[in-house]
Amino acid sequence: MTDLLREKVVVVTGASSGIGRAIAIRAAEHGAKAVVVSDISENPREGGNPTVDEIRVRGGTAIFIKADVSSRADNDALIAASEEFGGVDVMVANAGITLRNDGADVNEEDFHRLLAINLDGPLFGAQAAAAQMKAKGKQESIILMASMGGLSGAGITVAYSTSKGGVVLMAKSLADALGPYGIRVNAVAPGTIDTELLRTSPGIAEASEGFRKRTPLRRLGQPSEIGDAVAYLGSDLSSYVTGTVQLVDGGLLAVI
Ligand SMILES: NC(=O)c1ccc[n+]([C@@H]2O[C@H](COP(=O)([O-])OP(=O)(O)OC[C@H]3O[C@@H](n4cnc5c(N)ncnc54)[C@H](O)[C@@H]3O)[C@@H](O)[C@H]2O)c1
Repeated sequence: MTDLLREKVVVVTGASSGIGRAIAIRAAEHGAKAVVVSDISENPREGGNPTVDEIRVRGGTAIFIKADVSSRADNDALIAASEEFGGVDVMVANAGITLRNDGADVNEEDFHRLLAINLDGPLFGAQAAAAQMKAKGKQESIILMASMGGLSGAGITVAYSTSKGGVVLMAKSLADALGPYGIRVNAVAPGTIDTELLRTSPGIAEASEGFRKRTPLRRLGQPSEIGDAVAYLGSDLSSYVTGTVQLVDGGLLAVI
């Protein structure tokens, strides 16, 4: 498709399904040298072939590494696995969850479980990637998956929005910390994207038709459209872009 990611080794968490899967496949289509596909399960939630198979049939190179992003050791092992291809150039900390019972009364156990995946996950992933990039002198790119729900709050997403707002400021703060090493850190904030997460999250699923009607482009986003934003931020085309939040929402947050 393009050679935007030529010579880049791309690592994607939460890449068996939805947005992460599309980011991984799109990275291969944009010419990535190799894609390290990672998730807690190899099988896509929405069915179909594992992501690695989809990349290989397109002529790309990919391996699957099982990792739970809430574990620092798993993140370290994931980045170590990228050594096979020369180390990570583009780290995409994408894995994230919503809760069945989010809101003002969210319980402590659910809240902490969500924070462990949505906040510890990107922090541990970024730390592991940055440590390897620094050791190799690589001046490359880390991308954290935020959400429009991290830029605007909602009563049905108290825990989720708290975590994604944290991801936005994590990206800005890490951009400052890692900028002197030439490592860029940006966040991507998807709007309503047609994935299992959207379809199976109570409250969000019901609200999505209303979101669609209010969205200037009058449709939900496709996971591949997030993959293209990630490809840009991972590529040398964005060499002076760091500490930003790339909103990919069909214009939804631009209107009241
Ligand atoms: N779908 C949307 O509309 C939307 C909007 C904004 C932001 N996002 C964000 O995009 C990211 C991907 O969402 P999606 O819609 O593709 O969701 P999804 O549920 O379709 O896919 C998420 C993947 O993450 C994996 N995962 C869950 N817990 C994990 C863990 N502990 N360790 C490793 N992997 C784990 C799942 O197995 C799954 O394959 C999330 O961070 C989500 O918050 C999604």
